[in-house]
Amino acid sequence: MPTPVILDVDTGVDDALALLFAVAHPEIEVLGVTCVAGNAGLDDVVANTLRILDLAGAADVPVAAGAARPLIAPARAAAHVHGEDGLGGIALPPATRGAADESAVAMMRRLIMQHPEPVTLVALAPQTNLALLLRTHPEVAARIERIVFMGGSASVGNATAVAEFNVWHDPEAAAIVLDAGVPTTMYGLDVFERVSVPLERAKALTAGAHRAGRAVGELLGNRVAMSEDESLQYTGLIGDAGAVCAIVAPELVSFESLPVRVELSGYSRGQTVVDRRAYTGEDSLHGLDEVWSRSEVALGIDADAVADLFLKTVLTLPE
Ligand code: BDR
Ligand code: CA
Repeated sequence: MPTPVILDVDTGVDDALALLFAVAHPEIEVLGVTCVAGNAGLDDVVANTLRILDLAGAADVPVAAGAARPLIAPARAAAHVHGEDGLGGIALPPATRGAADESAVAMMRRLIMQHPEPVTLVALAPQTNLALLLRTHPEVAARIERIVFMGGSASVGNATAVAEFNVWHDPEAAAIVLDAGVPTTMYGLDVFERVSVPLERAKALTAGAHRAGRAVGELLGNRVAMSEDESLQYTGLIGDAGAVCAIVAPELVSFESLPVRVELSGYSRGQTVVDRRAYTGEDSLHGLDEVWSRSEVALGIDADAVADLFLKTVLTLPE
C-alpha cells in the first residue's frame, strides 16, 4: 500500500523536483501540499506549487497556503539560490486554479485526522506550519507516522557557517517539531548535498520531448549563478527530492538514531547540534546536559542510485 504523505514546501527549485517525484512514484500517495514562506515569499510559493502540480497532472491534489513568515524572525527569501520568483524564472504556464479556502494548518489537521492510516509529514521547508499545527492541534501527533524533514546538518551549514537554511529560517519552529513526541527523520545537508545529476543528463532532458523531463532538466540547471566560472555554476542537485526518495528507498540511505538539538541564540542560531559521541562526556558527568530530542539522522547515501531512482521516476509522468 502506498505511504500516505502531506508535503510542506517552499517551492523552490528543488521542492519542485520533490513534488514531481512524489506525484510520480507509485508507492507514495500525496494527500495534500501545504505552503510556507522560505525560499520565496508565500504568494510565489503557492503559485509555483500549483504550476508544478499542473505540470505533473496532479491538479486534483489540494494545496493550502500557510505561514507568510517564521514564528519570531522576519521572512528572508533565498532569491540568490532560487531566483526572485522561487523557480528561477523557468517558463511554466500560470496555474489553472488557486489555493484551497482552508489554511495549511486546517488542511493538515483534516487530512491527518480523516485518514484511516497514520500519515507521514514531509517537511521540505522551514517548519513554521508544522510547529503551528502541533501546538494548535496536539491530538494530531498520535496520528502522524513520522515527520521526515529536510533540514539541519551534522556538520557544516549553508545559510551560516553552522546553520542549514530551513532550520535557520525558523529555528523555534524546528525546535518545537523535534520536541513534539513524533518520530522524526532528519535528511540534512550531510546527504542533501551529495545527490546530483550529471550536466550532460540534465542537458539531454532539457532538449528532450518529455514535458516534465524538460522542466526537470531546466530546474536542475537553474541554480542562479553564484560564480562567473560557468563550470562552477551547475550543481545538478536534486536537493529536497532526495528526502522523498529516502521514504521509498530507505535501503539507499544509512540512518543513525542520534540526539539532536537546535541552537536558538547567538551566531549559531539555527544550528542543529547532533551528538555523535559514542561515550559519556563531561556534560553528562557534570549534570550539564541540555535538552535533546532523538532523530533518525541520514548520514550516508548511495548518491548515484538515488539520482537514478529520481530520474527514472519523474520520467514516468505523463508526456
Ligand atoms: C533547503 O533550503 C532550500 O534552499 C531548499 O529548498 C532546501 O529545502 C536547503 O538548505
Ligand atoms: Ca525547500
